[in-house]
Amino acid sequence: MSFAPVYLDWNATTPLDPVVREAMLPWLGAAEPVRFGNASSRHEYGRQARAAVDEARARVAAAVGAHATEVIFTSGGSEANNLFLKGAAATMKPALVAVSAVEHPCVREPARQLQRGGWTLREIAVDAEGRVDIADCQAVLAARPRLVSVMLANNETGVLQDVATLAAQARAAGAWFHTDAVQALGKVELDFRTLGVQGMTLSAHKIGGPLGAGALVVDKRVELAPLIAGGGQERGLRSGTENVAAIVGFGVACERALARRADEALRLASLRDEVEQALGALGARIFSAGALRLPNTVFFAIAGIDGETLVGKLDRAGFACASGSACSSANPEPSHTLLAMGVEPAVARGAVRVSLGRDTAAADVRRFIETFARVVGELKNLASVAA
Ligand SMILES: Cc1ncc(COP(=O)(O)O)c(C=O)c1O
Repeated sequence: MSFAPVYLDWNATTPLDPVVREAMLPWLGAAEPVRFGNASSRHEYGRQARAAVDEARARVAAAVGAHATEVIFTSGGSEANNLFLKGAAATMKPALVAVSAVEHPCVREPARQLQRGGWTLREIAVDAEGRVDIADCQAVLAARPRLVSVMLANNETGVLQDVATLAAQARAAGAWFHTDAVQALGKVELDFRTLGVQGMTLSAHKIGGPLGAGALVVDKRVELAPLIAGGGQERGLRSGTENVAAIVGFGVACERALARRADEALRLASLRDEVEQALGALGARIFSAGALRLPNTVFFAIAGIDGETLVGKLDRAGFACASGSACSSANPEPSHTLLAMGVEPAVARGAVRVSLGRDTAAADVRRFIETFARVVGELKNLASVAA
């Protein structure tokens, strides 16, 4: 392809960080010294693979203030969320499980599966800004759930939840508390102990690591049944020969994300503010503008303009953005996050997400703003001709 669109969809996935790629190459047989091995083998090849996995585990743990033995490698965030919810539920009698109304489908769907298996499911409401509704949360906790899951940062709005407070309240009510921190990793400070959660989900591909790698960080007091049984890898919680290359990449990506997080957060927040100002001048409604949010995410709509149409036009003009949530964009329904916030479906259908990342330059943002104003002008003209 001769022309590469400007990538403004970093919450969907991120390009592999070149330093991560370098670290992975020997394990893909693509650089000297070529490395391979089954981390369970009791010979030199196996020991090298085990050492690489252990080193990566220590890096992932360090990025979130956890102990290495609390890190269970998985195939990604979806598996880690499923492992916590279904794995913990499998060791209990069916009871009450509570998840927020704005969770990613890979939390909502396993919670619904538990419901079909005899659990009672409560979705905790959010306010108009997308923050967990404190009164509804108290009401849910009064019913004494065994499992509670509330995401740290929302993939669409970028809203940050006060997970430390929610986790403390849930623990006091006798629940194990899990948080999906996939979108938070590398963007905000994360500390497993300070948050006081019992489970935390991470994913490599959102932070410059490879697709198909992630982790559940889990307090050892939580009893979990594995989703995948077999050879007993990952403390028996996730059998299967470890994907050493991906795990090595995940470890390095965590280290890199941690090292640049503070500077990047400032840089991206200032670019994000520029985008928001320009959008505001065009009459856009910025969702969750009044809440604490990730520094890189803008979720908005312009009255009378369909989100899919706008994203299509921007794509043809050389800018890759998302309409609604990229993870569920095969689904034409308006964003469940916006509906949970009480946004009218007609407005939610206009939603577009711009998410920035480490390669987003100020010049990209300025070109985006210019192009966006032109595209919106064209669409508004079309709408007025049609009216
Ligand atoms: C908040 C959130 N949780 C979980 C996931 C799933 O992670 P993975 O793609 O690694 O399965 C995503 C990915 O889009 C996400 O945004």
